[in-house]
Amino acid sequence: MSGEYVPGLEGVPATRSNISFVDGKNGILEYRGIPIEQLAESSTFLETAFLLIFAHLPIKDELLAFEAEILSHRRVKYRIRDMIKSFPEGGRPMVALQACIAALGLFYPISRDMSKEEYAYNSTIRLLSKVPTMVATFHQMRLGNDPIPPRDDLGHAGNFLYMLTGREPDPRAARIFDVCLMLHAEHTVNASTFSALVTASTLADPYTVITSAAGTLSGPLHGGANEEVIRMLKDIGTIERVRPYIEERLARKERIMGVGHRVYKVKDPRAKILQNLAQELFDRFGHSRLYDIALEVERVCDELLGHRGIYPNVDFYSGLVYEKLGIPSDLFTPVFAISRVAGWLAHWHEQLTDNRIFRPSQVYTGTRQVEYTPLSLRS
Ligand code: CMC
Repeated sequence: MSGEYVPGLEGVPATRSNISFVDGKNGILEYRGIPIEQLAESSTFLETAFLLIFAHLPIKDELLAFEAEILSHRRVKYRIRDMIKSFPEGGRPMVALQACIAALGLFYPISRDMSKEEYAYNSTIRLLSKVPTMVATFHQMRLGNDPIPPRDDLGHAGNFLYMLTGREPDPRAARIFDVCLMLHAEHTVNASTFSALVTASTLADPYTVITSAAGTLSGPLHGGANEEVIRMLKDIGTIERVRPYIEERLARKERIMGVGHRVYKVKDPRAKILQNLAQELFDRFGHSRLYDIALEVERVCDELLGHRGIYPNVDFYSGLVYEKLGIPSDLFTPVFAISRVAGWLAHWHEQLTDNRIFRPSQVYTGTRQVEYTPLSLRS
């Protein structure tokens, strides 16, 4: 079968899925049919991860058992810690995380007495629970500190902030971070999820699937954008500089980070929720000059790019929230991974229920039937 080449596969369905739904014209995102706004209001990250992966909201006992399992697997092996210790302190955190996730697979292979279902469940729990610990461990070790062990009395989000900063977070700050994790947990077939699907379709193990996805997430056009947004806001420096900065960038045909989306042609619903969370954080814990600059960037971008359907995406306000929570900007993408691992795992499970290896075609643009030139005759 031959088809027309579509750059970036825009609009080309790559799978059938009932995990999440996006309506880019009306700014709607649903996980298993539940609007993201309702989840952000009432759910938790772990409940949402359960919903995404097991396709239903858990009853109380299921949720308690799931949370207890995640909690009991938070620690990582000494050998993983030793491996992290040997990484260069200045190494890119996403590369470190990718290496750690791949290494987890070495420690937890499927064993002969384990069913496929048992292995899938164990891997799901381990990945959800150990990825945050590995990110925090890398951060502490690059600072020359011992890793901070997880605290069993803290929830998933609060414990991560604690392991990262060494301070027990304010409960409201922990809740806000938990909502951020929920908002980033899943988003249909984005680039990293597509990567996960392709790797899953070869029947590679789940650690390898998540390693592939994490590598794809690391790029600045995908998970790296919120770090770029903070850099841009700092570069701009003052509200007065916003308009000339944006105009100069657009004149040079450069992109404004944190705006534009392949699917959303209106403001991303997650950006709306994140903006409210940012506002709340600044009201409670002190104002940020960068937030004022961000509001002005949004205003100028609405004016200059809005007519082309380019509006703030999820990354526009998330960096501001993370910065206020004390997360270093080069960890924003690993934090995205802590959350998105839920969506990747949900897609891995789904892919295996009806698997066919991905093997697209290409439009060949090279020459044909070329005579081989011996080395001695080449100039
Ligand atoms: N600033 C300026 N112009 C833009 C932007 C932007 N941020 N985004 C798109 N455009 C323009 C682009 O220059 C192009 O113009 P023209 O048709 O004149 O060449 C047109 O809009 C279409 O752009 P595209 O690259 O074909 O659109 P896409 O769907 O391939 O790109 C995107 C989507 C997210 C890569 C892009 O909007 C972008 O680079 N945004 C900035 C990076 C960013 O914020 N990424 C986070 C995305 S959301 C979270 C995630 O997925 O990880």
